[in-house]
Amino acid sequence: MSSPHSGGEREKLVSKLPAHLQQALKVRAAQLQTDMQDAVAGGIRAWRECADELPSVNTAGADSFGTYLPEGLYEDFKADCRERGVSYIQGLAQSVVLWLADNPAGAQETTRRIIVCNQKGGVGKTAVSAGLAQALAEAPNAVGAAAVGGLRVLLVDYDPQGHLTHQLGLTAIPAGEESLITHMLHREQAKRSLLDLTVAISGERFGGRLRILPAAFDAFLLDSGLTIFRGPRHAALERALAPLEEHFDVIVVDSPPSLGLAMDAALNYGRQRDGEKPGASGLVVPVEAEDTSAQAYGMLIQQIDSLSRDFDIVIEQLGLVVNKFDSRRGYIATSSLDKWKTLGTPPVLAVVPDVKEQREAVRKQRPLLDYAPDCEQSHQMRKIARGVKVT
Ligand SMILES: Nc1ncnc2c1ncn2[C@@H]1O[C@H](COP(=O)(O)OP(=O)(O)OP(=O)(O)O)[C@@H](O)[C@H]1O
Ligand SMILES: [Mg+2]
Repeated sequence: MSSPHSGGEREKLVSKLPAHLQQALKVRAAQLQTDMQDAVAGGIRAWRECADELPSVNTAGADSFGTYLPEGLYEDFKADCRERGVSYIQGLAQSVVLWLADNPAGAQETTRRIIVCNQKGGVGKTAVSAGLAQALAEAPNAVGAAAVGGLRVLLVDYDPQGHLTHQLGLTAIPAGEESLITHMLHREQAKRSLLDLTVAISGERFGGRLRILPAAFDAFLLDSGLTIFRGPRHAALERALAPLEEHFDVIVVDSPPSLGLAMDAALNYGRQRDGEKPGASGLVVPVEAEDTSAQAYGMLIQQIDSLSRDFDIVIEQLGLVVNKFDSRRGYIATSSLDKWKTLGTPPVLAVVPDVKEQREAVRKQRPLLDYAPDCEQSHQMRKIARGVKVT
């Protein structure tokens, strides 16, 4: 049987693999933004090349496992198994163990930065930031999960309104207390590490991987503080968050509904860094299917263009999320959706319906994917997570 997957013909491998190795493979492949089938193929190649005798893996009670391999590899592998006197199941388990050892989680090049932004208010920046972060962090084997998850994700509430912080049942950092703003504007006064200020989001499906840096009331003063800041203003957010990066695979920033110096610092933080894969970091822009949303988007594009020119940087738009879509609103909604789709670049990552679960989760101060893991909006959040996967 062959797969239509790009990159040549592939043949199906049907075998067995212990559940813990299947899980580890899924999580590591997600962390490294690699396809599972490429990981297995890489492991089998390494196994075939390995001249040393490999320790036997306990495969008792292994569960069925299937994937696709490049043409011919499975036959070669089976021939090697026969020659080495090991079962196909043992050979596969050893290959996966080898791949895991050769590809440690820490080998990821750089922490991905995703800035969720739009200066238009109420379009769903906070809802999308939270949902995307949850989808990226949730265990890949959780019911309904996107299979891109298992990542260590930091949500940064960069909006002085603090909606994200409140929605997750926390309180914003009071005025005058140490916060992200202290680390951006007055580093010399900071006494704690920013990691200490982050809080884990509870929920079994997030397994302690999802954390939030709560909002600070002082963020209302950020724009004016940056005006008199002595130093590179546009790099202020990057400098503050840099020490946190080693602790996370992805940092998602929920932006305020404004365009100003604080937003320039956020846009700059989402730029493509030297050597970073295209599509790894950038902007996710929630929009609505109506004309005012299109006008606001035009302004955002201008801001991105001028910042990119001024600092000679590349700020990639990873995609749009058409939020609160309700086709019952008729022609305006459906024709606006068509317009967003015909843009092509950036792509529409998801169309999120106007659904009650989002508002209920907010009211109950619970993460949406924990409160209603199977609702349409949760599925759309996972679609966004799959859409921003680096290939
Ligand atoms: N798909 C949806 N279905 C139903 N309600 C939604 C949806 N998306 C967002 N909402 C609700 O709409 C309101 C505005 O959403 P949200 O706070 O995410 O927007 P925002 O762009 O972050 O706003 P602000 O500009 O004030 O930061 C919230 O009450 C939120 O719960
Ligand atoms: Mg918001």
